[in-house]
Amino acid sequence: MKKLISTTVILLFLFLLISTGCNQTQKTDTVKEPSKMDWWSEARYGMFIHWGLYSVLAGEWDGEIRYAEWIRSSAKIPVEVYDTLVRHFNPVEFNASEWVRMAKDAGMKYIVITSKHHDGFCLFDSEYTDFDIMSTPFKRDILAELSQACREQGIVLCFYHSIMDWHHPDYLPRRNWETDRSVNGADFDRYVAYMKNQLKELTTKYGAIGVLWFDGEWESTWTHERGVDLYNYVTSLQPGIIVNNRVDTGRGGMAGMTMSSEYVGDYGTPEQEVPATGFPGTCWESCITLNNNWGYVKNDDNWKSPKTVIRMLTDIASKGGNLLLNIGPKPDGSFPEESIKILEETGSWMKKNGSSIYGTGASPFANIKWGRCTSKEEGNNTVLYLHVFEWPADGDLVLSGITNKIKGAYLLDGGKKLRVIKKGPDIHIALPTVCPDELSTVVVLKIAGKPQVFEAPVIANSQVLFIDTASVNLVSFPDALEVHYTLDGTDPSAVSPVFSKQVKIAATSEFSAAFFMGGERVGAITKMRFTKVDPLPAIEPGSTSPGLRFAYFKGKYDSIPEMSGMKPLMKGVTDRVSVVKDSDAEYFAQSLSGYVLLPEDGVYKFTLVSDDGSKLYIDGRLITDNDGMHSSVAKSNDVALAKGYHNIVLEYVQGSGSKELNLFIKGPRGDLDINTLIFH
Ligand code: GLC
Repeated sequence: MKKLISTTVILLFLFLLISTGCNQTQKTDTVKEPSKMDWWSEARYGMFIHWGLYSVLAGEWDGEIRYAEWIRSSAKIPVEVYDTLVRHFNPVEFNASEWVRMAKDAGMKYIVITSKHHDGFCLFDSEYTDFDIMSTPFKRDILAELSQACREQGIVLCFYHSIMDWHHPDYLPRRNWETDRSVNGADFDRYVAYMKNQLKELTTKYGAIGVLWFDGEWESTWTHERGVDLYNYVTSLQPGIIVNNRVDTGRGGMAGMTMSSEYVGDYGTPEQEVPATGFPGTCWESCITLNNNWGYVKNDDNWKSPKTVIRMLTDIASKGGNLLLNIGPKPDGSFPEESIKILEETGSWMKKNGSSIYGTGASPFANIKWGRCTSKEEGNNTVLYLHVFEWPADGDLVLSGITNKIKGAYLLDGGKKLRVIKKGPDIHIALPTVCPDELSTVVVLKIAGKPQVFEAPVIANSQVLFIDTASVNLVSFPDALEVHYTLDGTDPSAVSPVFSKQVKIAATSEFSAAFFMGGERVGAITKMRFTKVDPLPAIEPGSTSPGLRFAYFKGKYDSIPEMSGMKPLMKGVTDRVSVVKDSDAEYFAQSLSGYVLLPEDGVYKFTLVSDDGSKLYIDGRLITDNDGMHSSVAKSNDVALAKGYHNIVLEYVQGSGSKELNLFIKGPRGDLDINTLIFH
């Protein structure tokens, strides 16, 4: 009886869904219902193209090269001045077949091109505006040519269409600096009617369109109701069309996923990031630039390497998502040479290894140290694609926790058969000693049935530092499993102590734990080092007042400057941790300094969020380095601190674009509000 119960529990625990259909939430043994998302999930990889009038400027205005597709807004170019760019858009090198061929050879299955970006300029022949390609010297409908080339070459054409429009007189709001651009007579409903007319053109003149990729939904005039209406409108024009979640107002920041089910949109759109985990049952696509910018910028040479691209695509596929990789064509209609090279190199990897990406489902393993896994059903069997990022020096590739019968293993490229042996809970695959493909080598492992995987125990502690004692906790696990652990870094065995509820430690320990059944280890070993530390002592600052001192320095920095010898343009006291200068300011640095008053001895987690760079010092030590020019990035660090005052210095640098500086603090008893703890 006991055995029967444990087997049932374990099977419930282990049974894993393998399905490429992200819209499918449940494992079923019945045939999967077809869905409009099928081709898209199968595709896994698409090309984003940002191209328009801004490409003519190549990022430069007033002698400064620091803009991209936002140039009209960021460089504050008056609409009538920007409009004149129409006369200069003449992409004589544009060749739709070449573009589509490059996408196809790179292994991409769909193209999403900006039919209209935020500047309002249309790459197609629209009856409803003159601010379109037909007013340029080029006078050729880019989208018509692309749709024909896509049809010929079997690539799905999709349109990015901005809701925000900086050109149309009826669009509101104006840019906040456009004080002399009148809003009199502007009618947002009329703007929406205009946008719908254009979407009708886009969905009726260019054949079947794969995706409508909306953007610019964050402006105050766009509402949930308008989003639902637009979703219904475009899906009534082409029922099979897929619509991203930026059609509605439910996107949660750059992380891109929809916050709750009341919002419409067929998939989430993480921007410039790969989520830490997948979202089973939810479709998503990370859109990522090949260098730093979406639109063409002549001096942007920060190209991702082919290896980075392949591993990013693999990482995304292993989490059940798609990658939309951006190209910013030049004003003459050609792709930047470096983009072409990267597309070619990654394309040749895709030719050999594409089957490990297309139509695959997410990894059945929570975590694999040496790489990633994608999976595919094959009749009653499962194919696991093991993407080896870190080649084992001794050629012994270890995969832990899989209990299925192994049917065989081979290298995907070339088919070389590999010896597989099972040793307890681990599978050992004998690899050639030299890594065959530095980009990523794929090992195919065939197993019988659906993957049944024992994971390693999951440690619930969020802190690895402690002052006096710590208790190690595990995330709950089925009763049928037993956990044995050690504290000295050795692998736990059936005779190691049994974990029940928690383990108390009073010295630095290397905690290692694994699941066991019937005296045998099942699954991988979890390891974590817990370090005992002395808290930094408090200081006695004398009398203090609330708030931090700030100093503001004007200048064009691309990282945090050495502020100590510099003369600030402005000084004062601020009552909160934030960017002190008003919302229009660009190109500056600032420092905040003073004390933070902590309520008790303990390990404090500081989370520093900034766009662009920042650094946090406590008691003269660099705690968090979040420097550099980047969009919003959060970094967390733990510090053991004694009760009382500690020195705090926060440095910040801003280039152009959005600004953000935030500091969150979590103490031994939970979240604290930093702004109530700062003094000078
Ligand atoms: C941002 C930008 C835009 C770009 C888009 C791509 O929202 O506003 O310029 O087109 O991201 O995801």
